[in-house]
Amino acid sequence: MTKARLELVWPGKDKFMLVPKDAHGKPVWVERDHPAASEVRLADFTGIVGDVPEDPYAANLLFTGDSLDVLRILCEVPEYRSIYRGKVKLVYIDPPFNTGQAFEHYDDWMEHSTWLSFMRERLLLISDLLAPDGSVWVHLDDAEHHRMRLLMDEVFGPANFVASVIWEKADSPRNSARQFSTDQDYVLVYSRNIDWSPNRLPRTAESDSIYSNPDDDPRGPWLPGDPYANKPYSKGLYEKVGPTGRSFSPPPGRYWRVSEERLDELNDDGRVWWGPTGNARPSIKRYLNEVADLVPRTIWSKEDVGSNRTSKNEMRAIFAGVSSFATPKPERFMERVLRISTQPGDIVLDCFAGSGTTAAVAQKMRRRWVTSEILSSTVEQFTLPRLAKVVKGDDAGGITKAVAWEGGGGFRTVAVGPSMYEDTPFGVLLAEWAANVRFARAVAGQLGFEWQADAAPLCGVRGRMRLAVVDGAVGSEEIRQVVGALGENERVTIVAKSVLPEAESILAEVSPGSRIRKAPRDLLTSGARRMRRRTEASPQHTDQSTEGSRP
Ligand SMILES: C[S@@+](CC[C@H](N)C(=O)[O-])C[C@H]1O[C@@H](n2cnc3c(N)ncnc32)[C@H](O)[C@@H]1O
Repeated sequence: MTKARLELVWPGKDKFMLVPKDAHGKPVWVERDHPAASEVRLADFTGIVGDVPEDPYAANLLFTGDSLDVLRILCEVPEYRSIYRGKVKLVYIDPPFNTGQAFEHYDDWMEHSTWLSFMRERLLLISDLLAPDGSVWVHLDDAEHHRMRLLMDEVFGPANFVASVIWEKADSPRNSARQFSTDQDYVLVYSRNIDWSPNRLPRTAESDSIYSNPDDDPRGPWLPGDPYANKPYSKGLYEKVGPTGRSFSPPPGRYWRVSEERLDELNDDGRVWWGPTGNARPSIKRYLNEVADLVPRTIWSKEDVGSNRTSKNEMRAIFAGVSSFATPKPERFMERVLRISTQPGDIVLDCFAGSGTTAAVAQKMRRRWVTSEILSSTVEQFTLPRLAKVVKGDDAGGITKAVAWEGGGGFRTVAVGPSMYEDTPFGVLLAEWAANVRFARAVAGQLGFEWQADAAPLCGVRGRMRLAVVDGAVGSEEIRQVVGALGENERVTIVAKSVLPEAESILAEVSPGSRIRKAPRDLLTSGARRMRRRTEASPQHTDQSTEGSRP
């Protein structure tokens, strides 16, 4: 009998979904060997704002492009892969919620199956990017929260579920609501590994205000602690006589937390409280100066982290007179996410940038960041100018004062290129732009070769394997040149648009172990193989999916 799994299924789950080019188009599910299911697109650096490190890949990065392409680039292109794969400490995403509502700046159009396919493809890549001590936070509302939890169980493993944070986003009830006025959004938090430990949050005046000092204890304010415990304890059953002669014993089924000798020691040290008249049940004092910072809780109030109104006001302060971005999140909200999950210098990724709150807060909190937004209009109108203001110290709002941000650092802008394939009635062809150096660069990224600009006739390296890309036909003359450029013990992968009949046998003779690949056919099959490996590596496929959950 086959072993059944607990799994959320939907039509087209095993296929790849093509996102329609415009908001009114219909999504189409295609087989996994379709070029779009595996293509790694070319990315071009397009600009610099502020100060950036010499290594362009190690700068903070603002991509304009689809999150899927950006995640693939980070996972697959060697120059990015060595910096980001397995090294991202926090992924926070606030994707389209699938609410069926048309927002002003993007279309929230997807049906449940479409949305699940869309998200699954991206989560599989996100899981590759997360550091062993990293975490992923997905911001949602009621439309998909419950389905997303099952999907995240599948991709990250149910034992890595950490919390479902509830954010009080509404300031006031919406009386026009047909049934309920919704007050909250959710953020699903999963860790890469089960032993993930969140940072504690600094204590606040409010959390400290419950401590007091009615007996002027020189150790400062304290809270009365429960003297009883539920756990059986061999020295935990005795009768204790208090200062006024009244005697106390644990209630049935409970035990003193400490032995009688220890209680006497604490009492002699002034650490036991018998009430204002000395006649109450003893409490063991818990001093404010001995308690740790605060463990994060799952309900985040608008007073603590701001609401939708807060973020709208933040937008207005940055972009006076411009109609606001539809769905920004408050900076204090993002500050809390970053405090819990990262340290200064850690890499933060948000591939649904919107107005750029995650990157803005990461910059102010001295984290490294990568973010991407699909709409160039949103990047131009909101994300880029906002982040430029942060870098220049021209954004006095949000958390700027709280974290003493005065500007500094910088970032690079990156554009994701168009597809190098064209799906035509005659099969998949190479796009017209895929020629010369751009074709060679695209092939290098696609096959995971590090790009080498000055090594002609070679153009890439992966261990002892070199890459040569021929924008035309490969025959004996090209093979002679390429093999002549190889170092000792090196082999070559030659990618060409057409292959002359004798080429493969000549190459096998002069450089055994080298190979010829025809574009686009062989690029597509190698991409499909790579993506299949990723899908099969998710917990659902490695059989750790349904057992156990975090205590
Ligand atoms: C809910 S908003 C994010 C808001 C953001 N957290 C902020 O504070 O401004 C979602 C954003 O994702 C963008 N988006 C939608 N589909 C995308 C995709 N496939 N790749 C990248 N961005 C996408 C939308 O254009 C929109 O700006």
